[in-house]
Amino acid sequence: MFSEVKEGTTRILVPKQPTKSIFYNPKMELCRDIDIAGVAAFVSSLPSQPLTYIDALAGTGVRGIRVAKEVGLSVAINDRSKPAYELINRNIELNELEESTKAYNENANVLLLQNNYDLVDVDPFGSPVPFLDAACKSVKKLLLVTATDTAPLCGAHSGGLRKYDAKPLNTEYHTEMATRILLGRVTRDLCKYDRAIQPLLSYSRAHFIRIIARVEKGAKKADDSMKRLGFIAHCFSCGNRFAFSCSDMLELKVKKKCEVCDAKIRIAGPLYIEAIKEKRFCEQVHEELGKRELGKKKEAMKIVATCVNELDIPFYYEHHAICKALKIPPSSLSFLLDALRSSGFSASRTHFSDTAFKTDARIDEIKDILNLKE
Ligand SMILES: C[S@@+](CC[C@H](N)C(=O)[O-])C[C@H]1O[C@@H](n2cnc3c(N)ncnc32)[C@H](O)[C@@H]1O
Ligand SMILES: [Zn+2]
Repeated sequence: MFSEVKEGTTRILVPKQPTKSIFYNPKMELCRDIDIAGVAAFVSSLPSQPLTYIDALAGTGVRGIRVAKEVGLSVAINDRSKPAYELINRNIELNELEESTKAYNENANVLLLQNNYDLVDVDPFGSPVPFLDAACKSVKKLLLVTATDTAPLCGAHSGGLRKYDAKPLNTEYHTEMATRILLGRVTRDLCKYDRAIQPLLSYSRAHFIRIIARVEKGAKKADDSMKRLGFIAHCFSCGNRFAFSCSDMLELKVKKKCEVCDAKIRIAGPLYIEAIKEKRFCEQVHEELGKRELGKKKEAMKIVATCVNELDIPFYYEHHAICKALKIPPSSLSFLLDALRSSGFSASRTHFSDTAFKTDARIDEIKDILNLKE
C-alpha cells in the first residue's frame, strides 16, 4: 500500500497510488528542497535558540519531517485526515524523530489559534486564504505559504477579488502580480496582530507560488509594512505599466490616462509593491542548497541564483511580446539587457519567466532601444 521514497536525506513512506485521504506530490520536491535551504539559512541567521516549527497541512508529513531531520528543529506535524495522521506517525518512527517531532490530527486553524510557533508552514490544496488569519496569529518568526489557486490570483476569473480583496489583471506578468497579491493579503492579515512582513524569498514555478517571509513584531513596523502596499497601473494599448502607493490612491493622485499613448489605463491591487526578496538571504539559501544532498539541487540553485540578481521592480516585460508588437524578430535576451544597461537603465532577468526581463526603462524607451538594436 505504501512505498518508500527519499527526499534530501529523509526517508518517507508515501501511498503507492494517489488516495483522497493521503496526499503526496513528488513534483513539489523542488519546493521542499528550497524550503530546507531557506529554513536552514533563516535559523543560522538567528542567535542559537530552541525553535518550534509547524507543518500545519502535512499530508504524509514530508515537509515537517524533513525540517526535523535535515535542519534539526522541534516540529509539530498536523493533518486532519486520520489516515494521513497515522502515516505521519510511521514516518516519524522511520526517521527516528520521536524526540523532536509530534503528530497532530486536528483542524489546522484550531491548532494555530491555540498555539504560537516560531515558524509556520501553510501548504494547502489551492488557496491558503482560509488558513492565513490563524497562521498570522500563531507565527512568531518565519511564515512559509504556498498558493496553487493561480487562476483567480492571475486574473483569469473573479476569485481574486473575492478571496484576496484585490483585483488582478490578466497581463503578461500575471504570475508576479499573483505573488504580490498574495503578499499583500498576508501583509494585511499580519497587521491585525501588530506584526509586519519582510519577504525573504518569493517565487513561482509551474502551478504554485511560494513565499518565505520574516515576521517582525510591533505596531510601528506593522504600520510601515502597510506603506509597502500599492497598485499597478497597466495600459493594454501600448504596454506601459507603473506602480503607485496606497497613499497616492487615497489622495487621488492617480493618473487615468497612459502618459505614453493617452489610452485609458487599468488598475490592479492592492498588492505588495516593494522588494519581494532580500538579496543577502537569497545568497545564503543558494549557499545552503550548494552544500546539501538534494534531489532537485540544480533546478533549485538556478531559481534562487536568478532571484539574487533580480531587480526589485514590481513587474516584468516579455521580450517576445514587445518584439511581436514592433514586428521585429527578437534578438537574445542578454543582448537586450546589455543594450538597456549601456543606455543607462538598470536591467535584469526574472525567475518568473526565462524570456522576460525587468528594467526601470519605460515601454517607449524599451521600444526605442529594440528598434535601434534589432
Ligand atoms: C496540499 S496537501 C499537503 C501537502 C504536504 N504539505 C506536502 O508537502 O506534501 C494539503 C493537506 O491539508 C489537509 N487539510 C485540508 N484541510 C485541513 C484542515 N482544515 N486542517 C488540517 N488539515 C487539512 C489535507 O488532508 C491534505 O493532506
Ligand atoms: Zn499606453
